[in-house]
Formats: sequence, structure tokens, C-alpha cells
Amino acid sequence: MDLMNNSVSSPSQSAPAAGSQTASQTAPHLVSERVLVLDFGSQYAQLIARRIREQNVYCEIVRHNISAETIKARNPTAIVFSGGPSSVYESNAPKCDPNIFKLGIPVLGICYGMQLASQALGGKVESCSRREFGRARLQIQSMERLFAGFPHEIDVWMSHGDQVKDLSEDFETLASTTTCPHAAVRHKTLPIYGLQFHPEVSHTSLGSTLIHNFLYNIANCEGRWHLSDFVSRAVEHIRGVVGKDRVICGLSGGVDSSVTAALLYKAIGPQLTCILIDNGLLRKNEQAAVISEFTNHFKADLRVVDATDLFLGELANIKDPQEKRKRIGKAFIDCFKLEAEKINGAKFLAQGTLYPDVIESGAAVDGPAATIKLHHNVGGLPEQLGFQLIEPLRDLFKDEVRKLGLELGLPEHLVWRHPFPGPGLAVRCLGEVTREKLEILREADEIVVSEIKNANLYRQTSQAFAVLLESQSVGVMGDARTYERAVAVRCVNTDDFMTADWSQLPYDLLATISTRIINEVRGVNRVCYDISSKPPATIEWE
Ligand code: XMP
Repeated sequence: MDLMNNSVSSPSQSAPAAGSQTASQTAPHLVSERVLVLDFGSQYAQLIARRIREQNVYCEIVRHNISAETIKARNPTAIVFSGGPSSVYESNAPKCDPNIFKLGIPVLGICYGMQLASQALGGKVESCSRREFGRARLQIQSMERLFAGFPHEIDVWMSHGDQVKDLSEDFETLASTTTCPHAAVRHKTLPIYGLQFHPEVSHTSLGSTLIHNFLYNIANCEGRWHLSDFVSRAVEHIRGVVGKDRVICGLSGGVDSSVTAALLYKAIGPQLTCILIDNGLLRKNEQAAVISEFTNHFKADLRVVDATDLFLGELANIKDPQEKRKRIGKAFIDCFKLEAEKINGAKFLAQGTLYPDVIESGAAVDGPAATIKLHHNVGGLPEQLGFQLIEPLRDLFKDEVRKLGLELGLPEHLVWRHPFPGPGLAVRCLGEVTREKLEILREADEIVVSEIKNANLYRQTSQAFAVLLESQSVGVMGDARTYERAVAVRCVNTDDFMTADWSQLPYDLLATISTRIINEVRGVNRVCYDISSKPPATIEWE
């Protein structure tokens, strides 16, 4: 059992339906060397995959019960078993196909993955007398291959309730801690390794080196995953799929849609038409900024639709957040449909779907079942419009998309932009959305973001914005009593946006933000700082 995974349910034993073949599915020829991570329900499977890709080795997450046959057909260079919340000795614990161990492909088991491999090959796993969570000192006994170049002791991150009690005679111990005698092991004759601790988390010192050593010293990877190669192969692939047809790409000004558009533009140039729908819920000067960024970097056809009246009309008198979202989603589809119909010969619709969205929605071929969420992306749009979907970023993590954006010549400030929700300021303007409230919110939001940038903290924070509260409060300005609105400042730090900490911004920065908002934004006499983490709060207020 892996304590870091307690909150995530164990993946089901049954295989999820494989994603249907679309133009956007991973093209096999895009990668020539891959590692498969078998997901046993770990919330860190994606982190493992990212760590592997950081070593220039392409990596995919697949379901834990993938057959040895299928693995063989995918021809991976190595296999990693993730951690997981179950105990290997429970009857319904997720298992792997035992024939995997006969394939001769190097395997690295992490935590639950190590326990599973050890048990499958003759060892015994038991519950620890005391659960172990946190830092531990690892003593390394064998400095070869996996631990090549390591000191004799390092700090590692432990998170487990079970551990290997009796190691099969076929295995040997490479490292241990005072409480965990078999903290790193290897099979004596097969290329199978196990780690009871977590090399993927940053608390394990030299964790990346350990992953590097497994990939290069044991699995003999060559490190063929480079984004520059990805660009040329993706361009070739897109050209092959699209042929002489036209592609439509919705542009929001965010990183994902901008990089999607840049990649498509590189591939098919004038066959691309981008559509920017200004729903009246964008931030200050956003429409102009997107147009200027866009025209500076591409010469593709850009259609800008000012749909403010339509969206604000739909939102009139609506206070319920879910109803707001529903109406915005519907208005977006209606509006996009109208615009798309004007574009002759369009056969494809491009979306900036990323690999985590594909994994979490359960749509990856052989990938794990959906365990976390349905994504916020505009669902159903391609089907409703009768387009084929093209998703050139669906194999990439966010950090890779940012690097790709730079590679494609997009400016740093665009590539490092904080995410902005599809429903825009509507979910930050609490209660009814009106033009007057949106104006106040835009001004306050601009001050928050620009002061965080001035303090050089924009890159260190994940999302920062203002929220306009519904209530009014009493204040005093000059000698006069005021009765005006309150603004909340929200700023969070997060890796994955599924959990988040509120950012501990310096008091003098908060003071500047507060003073500027109250002095410069008419209609606001109070500023609060939101100090709630996610969970239990969410990042957005609605
Ligand atoms: P929450 O509020 O759920 O937000 O903690 C997590 C991340 O998702 C963004 N978000 C949305 N993005 N449509 C989107 O495209 C939405 O309806 C939506 N709601 C939240 C939010 O800004 C944060 O980055």
C-alpha cells in the first residue's frame, strides 16, 4: 500500500474501452523509443511519466492489466510499475499479467509496483508495524548501474503501509533504511528492479539521476525524445492527415490554443483559419492583445467575433454558477457554429487537448480508466459541427507544451501565461454578471496581475486574479461614508490544479495591490486576500 495514493480509488480490474481512432490519436511513427508506465492507481503516475520524459525518453501511461502480448506489440524499451493505494495481498488488488516478467524488458517497480513484482516472483509482502511517510535515510550497498555515481547515503521519500518482508532468493538487496531492509532490490538474473521509496518526487535527492540510471544504464535507452524532432514529425503527420483540407482552430489567447495554432500554422499555413470569440468575459485589453500577438507571429486567417451582446444577454439575471457555465457553453457552440459555417471546405477542428486531459478522461489507447475528472474542455463541439478532431498536443504535458511554444517562436510572456477558465470573468463576477460589474473586475484584475509581475512573482505563482464579491460594505473615503463592493484577491501555487496552496505573497505586495485597487477602481472600498487551499476550496470562486 502506498500512502501517497490513499485518496485515489484503485483502478478497476476491467479494461476501459480503448479510445476510438481519430485523426488526433498518437501516431506510432512520432516516437521510436518508448517506456510504458503501468498505472496501479497512483496519483503520481503522471509525475513518473514527466520525470522519464525529462530524461529525453518518451513515455506513456497504460492500464495496469494490459496484456503482455499488447506490451510486446508496443515494443517498449522499459516498463515502470507505479505505486498504488491497494495492498498486494488483498484478493481484489490490481495485478499485472505475470507474463510481463518473461518478456526480457527491463522493469522498475516503485512502491506498490515493487511489492507486486517481488510477490509475483516469490517474495512476501506484509503490512509494516508502523506506516512510514516522509523522509528516510537510505544506505546504499551496491553502487552499480542503478546507483552508479551515488554517495553511500541519500535522503529518500517514503510513503507506504506495506513492504517486502521476505525477499525471494532470486533477488538481492541494493539499499536499505533502518525501518525498511529491502528499500531497493534487483532480480539476480532478470532485468527487474524495485524501489520502496519514490524517486519521482522532488524530496528524494538524486531521484532524477536514479530514473536516468534505470533508463540509460539498465534499459539502454538512447534518449530520442526531443521537442525539436517532435515538431518536424508532428508537422509531417499533420500534413499527411489534413491533405488539402482546411482546419479551424478556436483561439482563446491561452497557451494551449496558441501553441496548437502555431504548430498547425507551421504545418499547413494558409489552410488554417483561427476563430477568436470575444464573449465579453475576457480580461482587460485581451481581445487586442490576442490579435496583436497573433498577427505578429502568424499570417494565418484570423476571424474575430464580437459576441459580447449574445453572451451577456444569455447571462442576464442568472446567478447560479452552473447555469452560467451551461449558458456560456451553449452560446459558445452556437456562435462557433455560425462562424464555422462561413468557412468553406473546413474538415477538421483543432483543439489544444493535452496528455493529462487524455489520461484523466480515460480516452488514451490502453490507458487507465477515467479516475479523476471530465475535463473542462468544450465537450461535444466537433461532433456537433460534423468535424474531424485534430489534437496535435495530445501526447504532451503542459511543461512540454510551453517548451514547444518557445521552439515555435511564441514569446515567453504568452507561453508562461496563467490559465484562464473558458467561462472567463463570469465565474469571477459573483452572482449576476453585468457590464458595470465586469468593468470593475477587469480593472481590479489588471492591478493584481501587473503588481505580481512587478514583484517578479508571476512565474512562481500558478494563477493570480481578482474576484468581485456580490456583497457591499461600508467604508469611509475622505470624510464621506461609502457603501461599495469588495474584491477578493486569489493567488495559488499548484503543479496540477487539482490541489493548490494559497500563495504566501509578501505583505508589502498585498498592501500595494489593496491600495491601488481601492484608490484606482471606482466602486471598490475593500480588498480581501483569499487564504483557502484546494481542497476544500476550489481555485475559482464559482
Ligand atoms: P477549480 O476552480 O476547479 O479550477 O479549482 C481548476 C482549474 O480549472 C480552471 N477552471 C476552468 N477552466 N472551464 C475552464 O476552461 C471552466 O469551467 C473552469 N472552471 C475552472 C481554473 O481556472 C483552474 O485553472
